[in-house]
Amino acid sequence: MDIKSAEFIISNTDVNKCPQGNLPEYAFIGRSNVGKSSLINMLTERKGLAITSATPGKTLLINHFLINKSWYLVDLPGYGYAKRGQKGKEQIKRIIESYIMQRPQMTNLFVLVDSRHEPQRIDMDFITWLGEHGIPFSIVFTKADKLTNSKLNSNVQAYLKQLQEFWEELPPYFITSSETRKGREEILQYIESINKELNQN
Ligand code: GTP
Ligand code: MG
Repeated sequence: MDIKSAEFIISNTDVNKCPQGNLPEYAFIGRSNVGKSSLINMLTERKGLAITSATPGKTLLINHFLINKSWYLVDLPGYGYAKRGQKGKEQIKRIIESYIMQRPQMTNLFVLVDSRHEPQRIDMDFITWLGEHGIPFSIVFTKADKLTNSKLNSNVQAYLKQLQEFWEELPPYFITSSETRKGREEILQYIESINKELNQN
């Protein structure tokens, strides 16, 4: 799929103030610093579209980007950033949960996990919570450029194995790098196939 246009529309903390209408939305979630905003820039090939930072906790709002005037990419704040303190963490959690639970336009949630690390409790708990609420999601392994292919593959397999302990069927998954653009075509194709399906209904 070609990205012909990508426009920032609105940032906010209130799910009720998100754009009106029923265009499908694809949202990005995961721990702080995992690479959500970078992935949005990589997918759209617009470097400064979503604001990124080497320090965690950059994205604090729900950010809507309109793509090809027909669907949205949504950049969400990261979860689990300890330095923010209990109150800050709870506030972020509320924003994330309200978006996920109260946004029928949300078509697929991409859950990002860092391909360098072993499965983390916080991600597993979050994925379990998604399952309990019937939220459609897929997994995105990020920062694949930071490790060798063999380590990458063994980490991905370890992750999938852990998921299989809780899930009969594995969710779709993607291996990506915002540096090398690995995984870009696969994710865009996946989004396109869902958009096509929605248009047929
Ligand atoms: P928050 O908004 O704080 O939750 O973080 P985020 O998940 O949006 O992460 P962000 O995209 O801001 O990236 C965090 C850091 O990781 C930045 O320094 C990025 O340059 C770096 N980064 C993100 N993706 C990749 C990648 O695929 N490869 C490499 N090498 N670095 C990456
Ligand atoms: Mg961000």
